[in-house]
Formats: sequence, C-alpha cells, structure tokens
Amino acid sequence: MAFPEGFIQELKMRNDLAEVAAPYVTLKRRGRNLVGLCPFHGEKTPSFNVYTEDSHFYCFGCGAGGDVISFVMRIENLDYVDAVRFLAQRAGMDMPENGYDDSLSKLRKRIFEANREAARFYYRSLYQPVGREGLDYLHGRMLTDRTIRHFGLGFADDDWSSLTTHLKSLGFTEQELTAANLALPRRSGKGVYDRFTNRVMFPIIDLRGNVIAFGGRIMTDQKPKYLNTSDTPVFQKSANLFSLNNAKNAGTRTLLLCEGYMDVIAVNQAGFQNAVATLGTALTGEQAMLMKRYADEVVICYDADEAGQKATARAIPILRNAGLLVRVLTIPNGKDPDEFIRSQGADGPEAFRAVLERSGNDVDYRLQKLRSDYHLETPDGKVQFLEAAADLLAALTSSIEQDVYAARLCKEFEVDKTSFLAQVKKRSNSRRRDAYRKEQQKIRSDLSGRGDRVDKDKSKAPRSSSAEEALVVYLIRNPDAAQTIAGEVAPEQFQNALMRRYYAYFLQRIINGLEPMTNITADFTADEANKLYQMLGKHSGVAQTKQSLAEYIRVIREESVRLKADEAGGMTGEQLNDYLAKIRKVKN
Ligand code: UTP
Ligand code: MN
Repeated sequence: MAFPEGFIQELKMRNDLAEVAAPYVTLKRRGRNLVGLCPFHGEKTPSFNVYTEDSHFYCFGCGAGGDVISFVMRIENLDYVDAVRFLAQRAGMDMPENGYDDSLSKLRKRIFEANREAARFYYRSLYQPVGREGLDYLHGRMLTDRTIRHFGLGFADDDWSSLTTHLKSLGFTEQELTAANLALPRRSGKGVYDRFTNRVMFPIIDLRGNVIAFGGRIMTDQKPKYLNTSDTPVFQKSANLFSLNNAKNAGTRTLLLCEGYMDVIAVNQAGFQNAVATLGTALTGEQAMLMKRYADEVVICYDADEAGQKATARAIPILRNAGLLVRVLTIPNGKDPDEFIRSQGADGPEAFRAVLERSGNDVDYRLQKLRSDYHLETPDGKVQFLEAAADLLAALTSSIEQDVYAARLCKEFEVDKTSFLAQVKKRSNSRRRDAYRKEQQKIRSDLSGRGDRVDKDKSKAPRSSSAEEALVVYLIRNPDAAQTIAGEVAPEQFQNALMRRYYAYFLQRIINGLEPMTNITADFTADEANKLYQMLGKHSGVAQTKQSLAEYIRVIREESVRLKADEAGGMTGEQLNDYLAKIRKVKN
C-alpha cells in the first residue's frame, strides 16, 4: 500500500524542490531552469539541473535524477517513508494514519534498535569477566575508560551465540538480526550465529545518533585485522565516515581525515574532536561531499608508510573536486597518528598539535614529493622537474594559486617567471579543453544510451527506443492526449521493455484520472526513476508538436513490424503472408 495520492501531491506542492535543495546546492537561473554544482558528486562545471516547471532534477554529470522526495532520500540518506515524513514535517503537514507500506522503514528502525542493543551488550561485556581480555587490550593501547565510554567501545566474546541469544530474548527475530548483519545464518539452514566474535568492537554512529554498523578488531595479529559490518539497509560503507557524529560538533570547519578507527580515537583522546576515518575502503567522492557539508578544509592524516602515501595521492583530487581545501600531515618516522601520539607519552597532544601546524597544503606536499623524483643537482634534472611542476600547477583551478607557486619555484630555480607561467597556462587550457570534451562525450554517450545499465534495449533498437522515449515524455506532458494515443499505439508495439513498462504505467494512471508523475519514487527503482528524469531533462525545452507526435507513432509502428533477420528465416509461408499484410496495414 502506498500513501494516498492526494497526500503525496500536496506534499510535493508544498515542498518546492528549489527551496528544499537550497541549503545543499547553490542554484542559478539558466533559462527556465536552475543549475548548480551537483551535491551528489564533485564537479567544477555545473551539470545539476532543477526543472522548475515539473519540479524535478537531473544531473548530467552523475546521472542522479528525481523529484523532491528522491532528492531528500539521497541527500539525507533516508528511505522513502522517512523522506516523506521529513517533507511533511517541513511543510507542517500531518502524516496519514497508517495505510501505507512502511515495511522497509520499519525494518530499518528495527536494525537501528538491534544495533543499539548490541552496542550496549558489547560495552557491558567489556566490564565483565568475559571481556577482561578486551578491556586489557584497549587499556594496553592507552585508551582511558572515559574514551572507551565516549566512543561506546565494546567486546564481542568468543561464544558465537551470546549476542544473538541476548537480542532474541529482547524480541528481535533472526531475520532482523541477519538483516542487520549482526548474525549469519547457519550453514545447516537452521538458526543463526554471531557475526562478530572475540574482537574489540567499534560502533559506527550516523549524524542522527543511530548506531548503523560496527567494526571489530582482533586482539592478535591474525587476519582479517578488522571485520566490518557489510552493507545493510541502514549502512553503506562508501557513504559514511567513522566519528563524523563527533567531528561535526567540534566547532571547527576543518576535519582530520585518518585511515582507521584507532587513529581517530587516539587523536580524539589527544584533544582533537574533528577526526574522521573511512571504513576500510578508499575515500569516495560521496564521502568527500559529505565532509564538505561540515568543513571547508581537510587535513589528510594517513600513515606515513608507502600505502598511506599512495592513499594520500588518491585522496587529494577527490577532496579538491568536492571543493575542499586540502592539507597533508607528515608524521615523522613512518608512524600512524595513533602510534605517533603514543610514542610521545605525556607530550602526545602537544606533539601532534605541532605536526598539525606544520602540515603543508596539498600543492606544497605534491611539489615536495615531485622533487624527490628528480636529480635537481643536474641541469637536465632541473628542467624535467620544472616540466613536471608546470603540469602539476596546470591542474590547479585557481590562477592565483598557479601564480603564487610559479613565483616561488621561479625564484628558487632562477628561471623567468613569464615564460614558466605561459607554459603553465598553456597546459592548463589544454587540460580544461580535454576535461570539457570528456564531459560532453560522457553526456552524449549517456543520452544515446550506450552502456545504459537500466535501459538495456536502447542500444539494440536505437530508432524505436528514441521514438518510444519521446512518446512517453509526450504522454507525461500531455495527459489530455492519452485516450487518443492509446488508440494509436498499444504497449505491445514497443520494442524497448523499459519504455513499454513506462508507457503502460502512465497510460493506466492517466486513464484512471491520476497525475502521471506523483508516485514515481515509490513505483520504480531508483535507477528506473533516474532514467525517466533523464528523459524528461533531455526533452526539456524541446517543443513536442502534434506533428512530432505523429512522427513518433509512425516510427513505433514501423519498427514494431520490422522483420528481424533472424526471425525471417524461421517463418512458414503462412506466417510470411501474415507479416506482409501487417506491414501493409501500417503503411496505410
Ligand atoms: P590499518 O591496518 O592501518 O590499521 O588499517 P590501524 O588503523 O593502524 O589499526 P591498528 O592500529 O593496527 O589497530 C586502517 C583501517 O583500515 C580498515 C580499518 O578501518 C582500519 O582502521 N581495515 C584494515 C579493515 O577494514 N580491515 C582490515 O583487515 C584492515
Ligand atoms: Mn595503527
């Protein structure tokens, strides 16, 4: 059961998409639409479009599209029902009493509750005899009881069923526990067992204070060192950060990006609340966009070892792309922040503050790295270094930044600044042209449907697919014409399976007197809805006349009876005659 249509319609009317989006994205008017830098992926030229007339959005850069409900789902990481609730609250509307399907929403709530109870259970274990080993381990890593409580750390014992037994006694079902990834089904098919055993536990908490997942560290040097919750209905590791819930309240617009749980906790204990970490994966653009909401600057505090330096090099462009200023912390002696702070004993906090203050920005960092790749004592080495440096500076988007670093380098190497800068600008322009071309290419190829995951038929039957797409858009925009169109083309005549579904769906809605687009977010998968909004975006500003309608219909009919080479071979004489008769009918 869905929400009552009238309710969703009013909800959408009272929540203007442009207004709802305003806190997350700066929009500028362009023609009839609004455009801005996409809040869902990092970009430099705006490809996020808000179509004010029919109140939907589409990003030509990353393909995100939808209505005001899906916007809230994405940006606030909510399910459908909770996004509707969010918007109802925003508009001062009451939620309808029950009668709608909130099974996913309910499951999510149960998972949050199960996770919270699990975190309590793990924490309690730590201070019981069974958790002695875990507590000793954490104390051995110099964590105080205060820190342990602050982060809600805990211990999963070696029993394989203590957590599941406990949670079942609180009324959680096995299905809920496996959905939360707190338990795994037994291979026998009967019953479940604990996912985490014999590990110290780190709860991961979202921005609303929900426990969404766990990381668990083994106390020996066995592998895997850390075990993390797999993705669940409430947790996506690529879209969350450890301790962002603490960091966002640190009262600063700078975040310290660490590699792991222990670093974040050690840095916190040393007095810096603004540390976060990714969850066992490389930094994603989504995480960078999330940081951008709470910070203007990120200091990368990765390990000083080779892996850490590689990860640093990868993270810099992702953070920059999200519009963040970047600095890089260099820890002496190949240590990670946790080891460094511990190695300094009581002076840990002060020593860490000192390295933090010494951390250079990312350009300095990269130039410094670059230097070590060349023999600067030889003229050849110098030239090669300066060439590489010109490339590096060319990638910076701010020309002021380019100027500043060029000036510094030219002074140091005693070369003419004008000609060096000219080199930088030249490379910079060609990079920009390349990037622009690539972006355009991507948009064109997205629109042409090549490599389209959702719409697999488009590349197989491009001609009919285009006409079918256009007809679907026409139908949405001209619901009055539905009866006529339905009389001209039946869904079965569509070649493209996805378009056929859209077409049948909209015809039925319109004929039943419903507004076509109201329920898209509930009735289609996110990918399918995206595709629909992409189609609307593509046709936005293109007039669809009666004449073009006739043309779509003609093409669809023509293609629907076109003999496919492989079918022709297998036809009997009678079938062939039928086929020819059908073609004649279409032609007339
Ligand atoms: P590290 O191996 O650098 O560990 O992994 P660490 O943070 O220094 O941990 P300690 O100090 O040995 O306890 C960095 C991060 O990578 C993820 C974890 O999030 C970890 O904090 N990781 C690492 C995993 O998810 N699984 C692993 O097996 C190892
Ligand atoms: Mn470590």
